[in-house]
Amino acid sequence: MIELKHVSKLYTNGVEALLDINLHIGKEEFVFIVGPSGAGKTTLMKMLYREEVPSSGQVIVDRVNVTELTPDQVPYLRRNIGVVFQDYKLLPRRTVYENVAFALQVTGAARSQIRRHTMQALELVGMLKRASSFPEELSGGEKQRVCIARAIVNNPPLLLADEPTGNLDPQTTFEIMELLDKINRRSTTLITATHNKNIVDMMKRRVVQLEAGRVIRDQQLGTYSSS
Ligand SMILES: Nc1ncnc2c1ncn2[C@@H]1O[C@H](COP(=O)(O)OP(=O)(O)O)[C@@H](O)[C@H]1O
Ligand SMILES: [Mg+2]
Repeated sequence: MIELKHVSKLYTNGVEALLDINLHIGKEEFVFIVGPSGAGKTTLMKMLYREEVPSSGQVIVDRVNVTELTPDQVPYLRRNIGVVFQDYKLLPRRTVYENVAFALQVTGAARSQIRRHTMQALELVGMLKRASSFPEELSGGEKQRVCIARAIVNNPPLLLADEPTGNLDPQTTFEIMELLDKINRRSTTLITATHNKNIVDMMKRRVVQLEAGRVIRDQQLGTYSSS
């Protein structure tokens, strides 16, 4: 489903964030991208939803060469990719329901469909009872559940999570990872960037390790460190 071919990214300030990345990720896989801060994890994720373009190389997502998309094609790519961030990025003046429904409204879906899919997504993440709450009334873990609902409400084949548990305590981190695991098992390809050793070691999934912009390890059933 995802193919990176000789992908390099040189930012305009001269930082070489990615260097000759070659990576294949199949449909319905669960992959951790690990590595220290600055290794290039976020840059790699941004290549996939076309937040950044590579300086050289190709990025293929679901048979689409993302590198060649015109600006007006990018929104269609993004409808097929859910993204979850460390800092939530919820709209503060909208309710939980509205935050999730908004992702569908922009696609022009019918009102009844929007309602049904929004309720289903909130149910899946365990936040249906909080539908009329505002983000500031929620704990960090609850906010992240709402973000996950927003990311999957379109039922995208691909979910990207960039440090999804970066602001959460260990117990909540565990619950969020269980939820992401559940979504992956409902046949969504999942890529999680993290530097949380505990969750990577606990989940025992494929691990792609970055260091200074290069892939230095790609291991099935991996742990955070190779040793
Ligand atoms: N927009 C940007 N402009 C310039 N340099 C950037 C930008 N984003 C990230 N970088 C640099 O690229 C490198 C990789 O960053 P990033 O992909 O955010 O790594 P990670 O997510 O693993 O911490 C770092 O050296 C960072 O400072
Ligand atoms: Mg990052």
